[in-house]
Amino acid sequence: MSDNLATLNDGTKAITMGVKSGTIGPDVIDIRKLYAETGKFTYDPGFTSTASCDSALTYIDGDEGVLLHRGYPIGQLAEQSSFMEVCYLMLNGELPSADELSQFSRTITRHTMVHEQLSVFYRGFRRDAHPMAIMCGVVGALSAFYHDSTDISDPEQRKISAHRLIAKMPTIAAMAFKYSVGQPFVYPRNDLSYTGNFLRMTFAVPAEEYEVNPVVERALDRIFILHADHEQNASTSTVRLAGSSGANPFACIAAGIACLWGPAHGGANEAALNMLKEIGTPDRIPHYIARAKDKNDPFRLMGFGHRVYKNYDPRATVMQKTVREVFESLKVTDPLFETALRLEELALSDPYFIDKKLFPNVDFYSGIILSAIGFPTTMFTALFALARTVGWVAQWNEMISDPGQKIGRPRQLYTGPVQRDYVPVSER
Ligand code: ACO
Repeated sequence: MSDNLATLNDGTKAITMGVKSGTIGPDVIDIRKLYAETGKFTYDPGFTSTASCDSALTYIDGDEGVLLHRGYPIGQLAEQSSFMEVCYLMLNGELPSADELSQFSRTITRHTMVHEQLSVFYRGFRRDAHPMAIMCGVVGALSAFYHDSTDISDPEQRKISAHRLIAKMPTIAAMAFKYSVGQPFVYPRNDLSYTGNFLRMTFAVPAEEYEVNPVVERALDRIFILHADHEQNASTSTVRLAGSSGANPFACIAAGIACLWGPAHGGANEAALNMLKEIGTPDRIPHYIARAKDKNDPFRLMGFGHRVYKNYDPRATVMQKTVREVFESLKVTDPLFETALRLEELALSDPYFIDKKLFPNVDFYSGIILSAIGFPTTMFTALFALARTVGWVAQWNEMISDPGQKIGRPRQLYTGPVQRDYVPVSER
């Protein structure tokens, strides 16, 4: 990092602050001494101009539609890599050798079972509980089971907890699904791939053999790669903030899952498919585009727009291609895909969406594939959480390893009453 200087005049005096440069991307002005020198805070609700940390994991250029993990473009990773390899890359910084990859995959495979006592937790939930509600509870509960990997000051324990979280998330998500449909839990099998194992734990029943379809396995693996990490998004920032107090990793990831659930974030894939179902046929699209543009109507095109991407989300490009592959392999068609393609075409030629730089995001097409594979909409965000877990733990670990790490504690612009005296209830 090279340090330059920036000068800010707060109306009373000029203050000089350092400017830091990363390897790529915008420079940042280091305002850490601003309050001490001026008695003033910066004001940035929604953190639209605030870099909260240093990170060497993921880079996004939203204007150009670029997404890099450890320097590698997401398109290349999605086409040529595997989710296990991307997990290794995110956790260790470099692509693994063949031996390192097989050792890592073996380690993850060996951690896929959950403590048998944990399965009892599920029975405490209503059968119609949303899988994300179950995920929040069960992942948080992991800290009550794996005490030997909650000492965050020990790098080895941090590594084990990362492996455990990545490995157990498919088991936990599949169990949430099984519970909701009233079928028995299916235990993991070590001879299957990470993604093949998840498909089997989700869709197999004890009454018959289940064969993993390799095209579906590859498509889902690619979806996991596309969701692996995304810089300092809301859920990742939540994980970092929770972790900044020294909370254990299982509790921090549970916090990330809670944040991801919202429809403005990970819940958008479920909301996007529900929206496409509501629109139904292409002839109804203009009505919904008009609603999305109407300031007095809260309706938004779900799966459209992004805080950072002001260009086509590179993940949506891969996702659209994957829909075609899955449909061809499964020999299915879905009129909603035609509706989605037409909606994209109409929106991208509409001045409202052009001017505001609103493009399809990763969630626009993911629901169509997941639904073709057989997942109910309620599972979509749980799948996102499963895949994002590697990003969350890598970011959490990066933060804990940083010697300059501090508890996250933003300030505020107070707009409440000034100090006043308490009035007894008899005098009010
Ligand atoms: N449909 C219609 N108008 C939209 C949409 C949309 N999907 N998204 C943004 N706009 C408009 C807003 O009304 C606003 O207009 P204005 O400037 O006239 O007030 C302008 O575009 C900017 O929108 P903001 O909400 O200020 O942008 P922000 O960066 O805060 O929000 C967000 C980004 C939350 C993703 C937003 O685009 C949205 O709600 N999209 C739909 C939900 C969605 O798809 N979320 C998934 C995000 S990706 C992910 O989490 C994996």
